[in-house]
Amino acid sequence: MEPRHLLGIEPLERGEIERILRSARALREVLRGPSKKRDDLRGKTVINLFFENSTRTRVSFEMAAKILGADAINWSASGSSQSKGETFLDTLRTLEAMRPDVLVIRHGASGSAGLAARHLGCAVVNAGDGAHEHPTQALLDALTLEDHLGSLDGKRVAIVGDVAHSRVARSTSLCLRRLGATVVLCGPKTMLPSAAWEGVEMVHDLRQALGEADAVIALRIQTERIGESLFPSAREYARFFGLSRRTLAWAKEGAVVLHPGPINRGVEIEPDVADGDRSLILHQVESGVAIRMAVLLRAAGKLEEDSHG
Ligand code: CP
Repeated sequence: MEPRHLLGIEPLERGEIERILRSARALREVLRGPSKKRDDLRGKTVINLFFENSTRTRVSFEMAAKILGADAINWSASGSSQSKGETFLDTLRTLEAMRPDVLVIRHGASGSAGLAARHLGCAVVNAGDGAHEHPTQALLDALTLEDHLGSLDGKRVAIVGDVAHSRVARSTSLCLRRLGATVVLCGPKTMLPSAAWEGVEMVHDLRQALGEADAVIALRIQTERIGESLFPSAREYARFFGLSRRTLAWAKEGAVVLHPGPINRGVEIEPDVADGDRSLILHQVESGVAIRMAVLLRAAGKLEEDSHG
């Protein structure tokens, strides 16, 4: 059977996104139930290969694999033979020789998951590659939004912050648009892409972005990806682009707030908004486990409807 890679949202049609969301919704009941154990992936091995740090993505992939009965092996760059000069491809080939069924990869270089998929025989799942894509984040954002807004057709979602350096902004805007939402990107000029994104509005004014928004996604300031200061100070950023009770009042009444995490409290989001009753940040974390269960099943060719073609 062909490996069911998940390298990005770009190649997924709306029907396939909906199929993953539908399965994740059902699988979430296992996560919420008294017995978190199934045997769908019994006998399968998942290697989580993280060249970059992670809390949410790595732990939820491990948890998802274990709930489904797979063996999960966690590899991280620190403590590995990378420090002895082993290349990315040699590391991949070495791990593939141990015959895993699925490799979940996070790497700082855009295209690294695609490169792995071209060289390996097992299924590859992209857990974030540079500023390119973070498909499971996009899917969990979509699941969380649908839980609260229903169908995303015609809904308006503002994505605010360091868009240019964000794989989340790219994947999530693609995913939400494919599900029928309107996406508006907002940030200072230095944090918005230099070229237009097809079908996506870009504005520099937060009030304009939030006007009539059903949801707003605040992005983390990617301090590890920016070599120079892209705004004068964190205080200035918070004043013009931060989500606070004052700025959230510009959105639709009851608009919900998301953030991929980890959050910089007091910079892109004020603590009373992050912890407030409109925040779905922890709901996103729960959705993440369910989405990764669905994605691992898909990688193994065992997602709902797989057997029907
Ligand atoms: N949102 C996200 O990818 O978080 P982690 O870096 O903690 O995995």
